[in-house]
Amino acid sequence: MAAAAAALLFVAVNLACLCASENLVSGGRSFSIDYKNNCFLKDGKPFQYISGSIHYSRVPQQYWKDRLVKMYMAGLNAIQVYVPWNFHEPVQGVHNFTGDRDLEHFLDLANRTGLLVILRPGPYICAEWEMGGLPAWLLQKPNIILRSADTDYLQAVSYWLDVLLPKMKPWLYINGGNIISVQVENEYGSYYACDYRYMRHLRTLFRFFLGEDALLFTTDGNTDKEMMCGTLDGLYATVDFGTDTNITEAFGRQRRFEPRGPLVNSEFYTGWLDHWGDEHAVVDAQKASRMLKEMLTMGANVNMYMFEGGTNFGYWNGADHDTKFRSVVTSYDYDAPLSEAGDPTEKLLAIRDVIKQFREIPSGPMPPATPKFAYGFVTLRKFANISGVLNTLSPPGPVKSQYPLTFEEMKQYYGYMLYQTTLPRDLSEPTPLISPLNGVHDRAYVSVNGVFQGLLERDTVLVMNITGQQGDTLDILVENMGRVNFGSKINDYKGLLSDLILGQDILTDWKIFSLDIDGAITGGWPHANSQESFAAPQREPSAGPAFYMGTLQPSGLAWDSFISLSEWTKGQIWINGVNLGRYWPARGPQQTLYVPGPLLSTTLPNNITVLELEGAPAHLRVFFMDRPQLTT
Ligand SMILES: *[C@@H]1O[C@H](CO)[C@@H](O)[C@H](O)[C@H]1NC(C)=O
Ligand SMILES: *[C@@H]1O[C@H](CO)[C@@H](O)[C@H](O)[C@H]1NC(C)=O
Ligand SMILES: *[C@@H]1O[C@H](CO)[C@@H](O)[C@H](O)[C@H]1NC(C)=O
Ligand SMILES: *[C@@H]1O[C@H](CO)[C@@H](O)[C@H](O)[C@H]1NC(C)=O
Ligand SMILES: *[C@@H]1O[C@H](CO)[C@@H](O)[C@H](O)[C@H]1NC(C)=O
Ligand SMILES: *[C@@H]1O[C@H](CO)[C@@H](O)[C@H](O)[C@H]1NC(C)=O
Repeated sequence: MAAAAAALLFVAVNLACLCASENLVSGGRSFSIDYKNNCFLKDGKPFQYISGSIHYSRVPQQYWKDRLVKMYMAGLNAIQVYVPWNFHEPVQGVHNFTGDRDLEHFLDLANRTGLLVILRPGPYICAEWEMGGLPAWLLQKPNIILRSADTDYLQAVSYWLDVLLPKMKPWLYINGGNIISVQVENEYGSYYACDYRYMRHLRTLFRFFLGEDALLFTTDGNTDKEMMCGTLDGLYATVDFGTDTNITEAFGRQRRFEPRGPLVNSEFYTGWLDHWGDEHAVVDAQKASRMLKEMLTMGANVNMYMFEGGTNFGYWNGADHDTKFRSVVTSYDYDAPLSEAGDPTEKLLAIRDVIKQFREIPSGPMPPATPKFAYGFVTLRKFANISGVLNTLSPPGPVKSQYPLTFEEMKQYYGYMLYQTTLPRDLSEPTPLISPLNGVHDRAYVSVNGVFQGLLERDTVLVMNITGQQGDTLDILVENMGRVNFGSKINDYKGLLSDLILGQDILTDWKIFSLDIDGAITGGWPHANSQESFAAPQREPSAGPAFYMGTLQPSGLAWDSFISLSEWTKGQIWINGVNLGRYWPARGPQQTLYVPGPLLSTTLPNNITVLELEGAPAHLRVFFMDRPQLTT
């Protein structure tokens, strides 16, 4: 406790100095903290932000403007934005800031809309995003201690921030842009490492790249332990909490770490996320708006997390691992004021009514929901099983290895990988295939000579029976269901992490196929090659991993829709080359996937590809509806 008190004193003393330096006005634009009056100062005047979170990585670029305008019309004066490192540096040293990843375009749209930005560049962001935004290539170093002063980790962080932060500097409000403040790390206090050397290193980098006048802050969960490990002098300490928390107590805790300065709730939870197998989470609109009003009345600055949730397209969903591995669903609707498809909800109207009492909100009506269309049924055809298309999906062929290799060792970070070997002996009786060390990350779909036999699932199903004969091909398709984004288990290696045992035998002599399904599909497969393959079209349903395809005929419309895969089991779906994400109606709660209108063609057949992992229904139909179904 003595150390704690000393640290607190140090914080208080240091902030007093900061205050003086931050009052310097640069170029007539300033954004700083008024410690005397407990508020922010924008251009020297008291300023209260009413902000909402939106993640550009979860909204198609064509809709950025639409969502931002709606946020502005709801009365917000700021947005809060995470930058997912792994979205921008897919391969170490290779950066992508174009298309859906064009962060500066997003900032520009926000600036033109009249929204200030609270930037959260991580490098770790949590966000229920794959690995909390950290690139999985970091895991190539075994035993790397992420989010610490680990040399390799710090070096990768430094290279990344050296790319990102110089791009952000001109966007700082004080430099003529709209970024008013920048968060360092994210809820660092809830991470076990509690490594101050790491936080100090980040502080040095952020100061170096953004300058002395940038307003830097931290955000932590609302406990003393989290505040102790997550805060650092020179970084303004803020808290986050939702509708179940006592506001007075939560801000009281912020006050113990920041005796003076503005009250800030950096993440006020307007809703919550869903994992597969959960009930759909809902937060009451009246309760959320009542608490917002209470906080604004206290003069607090509030960011609503989320205001527009969006979608975990492709493989970008994260996962939690408390008692067991639970991956986040594809929709990130979050029960937020704007729906996944960007539609104003009752919650938005209730919140806008509160905001009206505190600031003048823009006149004019709230823009309406974007139009939705029920394009109806499309019947798919079975196209191929995985082993029939390995030449296309895995052009370099397999890597041979006595023992299984992980995704990370294979340098394939997302999606699916095939492990193949042969049965070492006849198995006329059902024989257990065991994952003794729970090393299947995260789901394994097992076939013998192409006949589906069942599956193994991390933490849940560690043994199954198979039958077959010596020399039969054993195919194990392993799905990475998204890396853990929170807590101590973020070193979440994927694939077969340890040996599988069949009866008494350790399985060895693997052929491991990296599968570039997305590469094949963006290259036009399978629709461009369908002519010859459909010489004898198969329409029989089947069990086990297989590809299905079909076309939605153009209707002249490119409106949003929601695709229902009712009675399908679990898999992944692409439309016109865009990976819409995972479906798993059998587990729920999410039943439909969001289909953004801009990806549909009004004139060409729209190409649908489905990878069903367990079992397709006899009807082989999918259904495009005009509304989402997020509950089972
Ligand atoms: C960069 O990202 C965009 C948007 O996702 C994508 O279209 C493009 O192909 C990527 N560029 C490279 C070189 O991978
Ligand atoms: C942001 O918008 C303001 C006008 O509201 C403009 O003066 C400024 O140049 C813009 N900043 C950037 C970086 O585009
Ligand atoms: C919140 O906590 C304070 C102080 O502990 C208490 O006085 C107040 O009644 C609580 N408010 C609510 C709504 O429970
Ligand atoms: C898988 O596809 C290949 C190639 O089309 C075919 O030869 C094989 O019989 C299929 N296996 C099963 C179990 O359907
Ligand atoms: C495997 O087969 C054995 C013998 O038929 C049976 O007793 C056992 O319950 C089966 N185990 C599983 C996991 O299905
Ligand atoms: C669907 O695939 C066909 C065959 O490759 C192609 O001609 C067509 O342009 C594709 N449709 C769209 C909307 O890209």
